[in-house]
Order: sequence, then C-alpha cells, then structure tokens
Amino acid sequence: MLFSRFFRLASQDMAIDLGTANTVVYVRGQGIVLNEPSVVAIETLNGIRRVKAVGNDAKLMMGKTPDSIEAIRPLRDGVIADIDVAEQMIKYFIEKVHGKRRMFRYPEIVICVPSGSTSVERRAIRDAASNAGASEVHLIEEPMAAAIGADMPVIEPIGSMVVDIGGGTTEVAVLSLRGLAYTTSVRTGGDKMDEAIVSYVRRHHNLLIGEATAERIKKEYGVARAPKDGVGETIHIKGRDLVNGVPKEISINQAQIAEALAEPIGTIVEGVRIALENTAPELAADIVDQGIVLTGGGALMSGLDEYMRDETGLPVTVAEDPLTCVAIGTGRALEDPLFRGVLITA
Ligand SMILES: Nc1ncnc2c1ncn2[C@@H]1O[C@H](COP(=O)(O)OP(=O)(O)O)[C@@H](O)[C@H]1O
Ligand SMILES: [Mg+2]
Repeated sequence: MLFSRFFRLASQDMAIDLGTANTVVYVRGQGIVLNEPSVVAIETLNGIRRVKAVGNDAKLMMGKTPDSIEAIRPLRDGVIADIDVAEQMIKYFIEKVHGKRRMFRYPEIVICVPSGSTSVERRAIRDAASNAGASEVHLIEEPMAAAIGADMPVIEPIGSMVVDIGGGTTEVAVLSLRGLAYTTSVRTGGDKMDEAIVSYVRRHHNLLIGEATAERIKKEYGVARAPKDGVGETIHIKGRDLVNGVPKEISINQAQIAEALAEPIGTIVEGVRIALENTAPELAADIVDQGIVLTGGGALMSGLDEYMRDETGLPVTVAEDPLTCVAIGTGRALEDPLFRGVLITA
C-alpha cells in the first residue's frame, strides 16, 4: 500500500489537453505544468524534414518563416491534419514535462481528444503517447473534460450543456450520467474569428494583415456586439497596402470589429441552437435551470455570454478559467476514481 503510493509519487502521471490552438499538460498531484501553442516548426533541408521548434518557439515563427521552414498546426481544424507532426509534438511535450529524470514506473496518461476525431486518429494519438513512454493511455472526449473542469454535474442524472470554443472548433454537448447525451462539433472557433478580421480589414481598408495581428486585435478589442455608444474604442492597425504594396496604418473601431466577427459568432450560436433542438425534453428542462457553461479561449470574447443569453433565453456563464478548464477536467479524470467511467480505454 505504502509502496504503491511511493511509486505513484515517483511517476509522472499526466493529463494532456491536446487542443487545436494550445496544448496544456497537468501532472498528477501538481496541477498544470505546461501550456504552449500546438505549433510545430518543420525545416526541410535537401528533402529531409526535421522538427526545428515546438510550442512557444514555433508560434513566434508563424508568418515569419523563410521558405525552408514551415510552422504547422497539426490539429488546426479539430481533425489531425498531419499525424506524424502531431506525434512528434505530443512526444516533445511529454518529454519536456518529464525532463531527463529516470522513471521508476512508466506513467499513465489521459489525453483529451476532440469528440469528432476518428478511430484512426485516436489510435495514432494513443500510439504517440505509448511511444513517448506511457504505460497506459486513456482518452477522454473534450466536452466531458470541459464539463468536469467546470464543476458541472456530469455524474448525476441532471442534464447540462457545455460549449467549448477552441481555436479550430466549437464543441457543443449535453451531458448526463457520465455520458454525452448529444454532441456536435462546429468547425468555427477562434481561428475563423481571426480570419474574419483579416478579411474585413482587407475588404474595407485594402490592408493586408497577418493572422497573428488579427488574433491580437481580437483578444484585446474583440466584442460580440457593437458597444452601446455605437463606436467603442478606436484602434490603429499596421499592415501592407494592397494597392501600392507599402506598409501603412489604418484605424478601425470596436463596432466595426463586431461587424467583422458577426458571421463566425453567428455560426457558433447557431450550433448551440441546433443542439438545444436535438436535446431530449427531460434534459432540456434541466438545461433551463442549469444554463449553459462556456469554456475554451473563445469564451473570453467580450460580451459573448450576454449575446448567447439573449439569443437562447437561457442562463449562460463563463467557466472560471476557460483556457485551462479542459486540462483541469482531464486531470481530475486521471486523479479521481469517481470519473474513471468517463475514460475511453479501448
Ligand atoms: N481574450 C480572448 N478573447 C477572444 N478569444 C480569445 C481570448 N483568449 C484566447 N482566445 C482564443 O481562444 C482560442 C484558443 O482557445 P483554446 O481553448 O486554447 O483552444 P484549443 O482548445 O482549440 O486549443 C484562440 O483562437 C485564441 O485566439
Ligand atoms: Mg480545447
């Protein structure tokens, strides 16, 4: 008994939220130890591809790489676009957390996967973790992890709805009794919002800006609805003029940003509406009381909760720490035997 506890402490059992935008790693008994972009920079020299950087270092290279280097987001749209690169990324993060220490016991790992991932993709993720030294690999579906992380009543016979707005996808799910009663994945999330800002600025100002700039604008000034005064703050954006090709600066206001974001945000709200329409009446009745909980980085969009409240007529709340909620839920599923039943073992 004591002996087995010793071995448990000596090992580094981990929970990994493999997100389309960010990977977050939680270690048993320690909490979150790593939070980095899901980005890999690949260099091709004489036809040979090799990993140049992963995570923070690789994200800094995005949009600024020479022809020989490519910054890849292997999970970009919620499916695994490049399984080899995804595998290298998973291994890199696991090794980074482990350090070079000698392991007494190979660790147990729980990985959170998008609910829309195929069995082939799940197999590949599982293999990557095994190859990186895991003794046992369990998977958990993202909405379940998000709901556990947000302290929702997932093991009780009470219906609840979670909406996880990530980079590539938005996952909408109704949960009850350790299971997903309904789930849908919309291919619209933070990335589509960034793209919407890029195309708005191009269309209205003939200015070309990069996705990293658009993401920064979204995080700092993005609003789901035009500000009450109809204008909001005015911001200056630098980029390249499409007509004469030189760098220039323009200004736009928050009402215009809201206009740019209307389409992706509308798509997300539509996904929620469809999920509500497909929910069994008893569960729907619970959701009226429980409301909807928003998780994922997109939940931080200013005014989105209020907008969704108005559109659905239901109570909408934002989870305490939307960006780490899924990792915390995955970590709890690893630590607490109460949640064992939600893990996918086969
Ligand atoms: N304050 C914010 N406002 C709006 N969007 C944000 C904010 N902070 C982060 N995001 C967006 O959240 C997304 C990442 O969320 P995350 O839950 O980590 O995604 P994933 O689980 O797919 O990796 C990115 O598109 C990022 O731009
Ligand atoms: Mg996520």
